[in-house]
Amino acid sequence: MTEIAELPHALEPIEDIGGAAQPLLQVSGLTKHFPVRGGLFAPSKIVRAVDDVNFSVAKGETVGIVGESGCGKSTTARLLMHLMPRNGGDIIYDGRAVGRELSLRELRRGMQMVFQDSYASLNPRLTIEESIAFGPKVHGMADSEARALARELLGKVGLRPETFANRYPHEVSGGQRQRVNIARALALSPRLVILDEAVSALDKSVEAQVLNLLVDLKREFGLTYLFISHDLNVVRYISDRVLVMYLGEVVELGPVDDVWDQPAHPYTRALLAAMPSSDPDKRTEVPPISGDPPNPIDPPDGCRFHTRCPFAEAVCSKIKPLLSPVSKSGHQAACLMVIPGSGHSAAPEGEPVQ
Ligand SMILES: Nc1ncnc2c1ncn2[C@@H]1O[C@H](COP(=O)(O)OP(=O)(O)OP(=O)(O)O)[C@@H](O)[C@H]1O
Ligand code: SF4
Ligand SMILES: [Mg+2]
Repeated sequence: MTEIAELPHALEPIEDIGGAAQPLLQVSGLTKHFPVRGGLFAPSKIVRAVDDVNFSVAKGETVGIVGESGCGKSTTARLLMHLMPRNGGDIIYDGRAVGRELSLRELRRGMQMVFQDSYASLNPRLTIEESIAFGPKVHGMADSEARALARELLGKVGLRPETFANRYPHEVSGGQRQRVNIARALALSPRLVILDEAVSALDKSVEAQVLNLLVDLKREFGLTYLFISHDLNVVRYISDRVLVMYLGEVVELGPVDDVWDQPAHPYTRALLAAMPSSDPDKRTEVPPISGDPPNPIDPPDGCRFHTRCPFAEAVCSKIKPLLSPVSKSGHQAACLMVIPGSGHSAAPEGEPVQ
């Protein structure tokens, strides 16, 4: 394995402090509430876009985030990138609290993001080479060095520099632009890359090529990914572990194969059941999700899924289930049916967890 830093012109990545045993990212209590104005006489309301989200990402791991539109995936990503202030929670990057031991400027070197819209992410007045060189120049690299790095990175993302360096964003295809955005993200030698629907807008065949590129780059440069997508097949392909979000909360997490093969939360089961499967033996009997579409404005009390859950009982609207172990693999779900003694008729026997 090489590092991006081994490219002749690359920036040194920020130091690996804790070694392999220390998670690259630890997120606790992450919360973002957006106030939304009510009508003339209506009180203003709060969108609980991200509500007490906790997870960690190990070095070299790919963690997927899935969930319906509006469940808080992009808001989580933006909070991690510090693109907006949060209402609460800690973000620890390689053992250092962002904003305290790790400056925002250092964080930008350590964590980069690729968005869905390849065109909006690029300045239309800069050539591709200039766009990729921009970040390193902001971080103090000389113009000629930064341009040389841009060309090296273009080669790494499968675009011949002599063909593409001097083109403008509108002169290349969507798949090529997304490769440029990946090169631009790598230009600061990050160790964590957040990919927010980064391949979702591409045609299927182009999407597969860019996914393979991401897998190759990860292997070559020892990267860590947070991979956000609504496409469950793509998430299974690329992720080691997965988080399932519903109305701003993580309702299930664990190794992707465990969660996909034995989903413990009814919401995850419904999501997977709604997924098209080409294999008739794999089709399940779980009913598709019914009820109101999710609305994170004033979400329901207790379990937020109780308004749509086919297994909901009275207790589900009173008690909020916390993430609880499903197996020893780190698989967890926030459903009263997996919590011993929770009061749900399907809960395992045992003492309630305090
Ligand atoms: N700036 C904002 N002001 C008010 N509400 C916002 C803002 N940004 C996001 N939201 C709301 O927060 C909730 C979560 O949005 P978010 O974009 O994080 O969802 P998402 O899971 O990324 O959805 P999608 O799959 O459609 O990308 C939504 O209800 C959204 O309307
Ligand atoms: S806690 Fe109740 S409502 Fe929530 S997912 Fe479990 S069974 Fe359904
Ligand atoms: Mg989004």
